[in-house]
Amino acid sequence: MSDNDTLSRKPSVLLVYYTYTQQALKVAEAMAEQFRKQDCSVTLAKIEFTDKRWLERFSRFPLKHPWSEVLGMFIPQMRGATGEIVIPEEAKRDDYDLVCIGSPTWFFRPSIPMRSYLVSQEAGPVLDGKPFAIYVVARRYWSINMKGVRKLAKKRGGEYVDNIHFVYAGRQIRSFLALIGYFTHGENREKYAGIKIPPTNLQPGYEEQARAFASKLADGLQVLAAPAGDPPVPAAKV
Ligand SMILES: Cc1cc2nc3c(=O)[nH]c(=O)nc-3n(C[C@H](O)[C@H](O)[C@H](O)COP(=O)(O)O)c2cc1C
Repeated sequence: MSDNDTLSRKPSVLLVYYTYTQQALKVAEAMAEQFRKQDCSVTLAKIEFTDKRWLERFSRFPLKHPWSEVLGMFIPQMRGATGEIVIPEEAKRDDYDLVCIGSPTWFFRPSIPMRSYLVSQEAGPVLDGKPFAIYVVARRYWSINMKGVRKLAKKRGGEYVDNIHFVYAGRQIRSFLALIGYFTHGENREKYAGIKIPPTNLQPGYEEQARAFASKLADGLQVLAAPAGDPPVPAAKV
């Protein structure tokens, strides 16, 4: 079955996300697998970040100048900047039964590309009157990001259902050095500047958590697949 299988009466789920290091994609894939198991049709849609101010740094991995390229996002993030993005057709449709928003944290908040999507004209019909759930991927700080996404999606008429977050191993300093090390080398290493560091990125067990989250959301959607004639039941609260 294709990734973007949007047949018939099955409840349909959109997983829309931005990703730079593919962690939000990995969560989307685990969730998609579970939604399909529970007979939902699933569409994955990645927001492309094409703004020329930041295109160069985020179009390659690892980063060329990790410290300045990451820290350089601080001011735009703090002022809630938006920028140029490409929205795939799948993330413009208004016929999903559930929208799941995958949001990496950038300086505590939703990343510029995800914020840009949520305020875009195209996101309006996708979210208006629709249940939505949020998953946040972060080194450590997830809640301001989650609340930011929730606020923006509600503003577009979405009905908030639930959220989950995935954070990386290690405490403040070491997890930060591990992430900078990953941005520098493109792989996990044991040390950064002689300091022992934990592995960065999603921790073991994330797939089970993502599947359990999707399963709970799918349970709330199954009523939509009930035989014709059954009374409609709102799917918003699961
Ligand atoms: C510019 C930038 C700023 C970041 N700021 C934070 C932050 O403030 N707090 C945090 O926990 N993680 C922060 N991170 C780490 C990201 O949250 C993490 O790398 C991201 O969620 C991975 O998702 P992705 O692979 O889908 O891009 C930042 C990453 C980048 C690139």
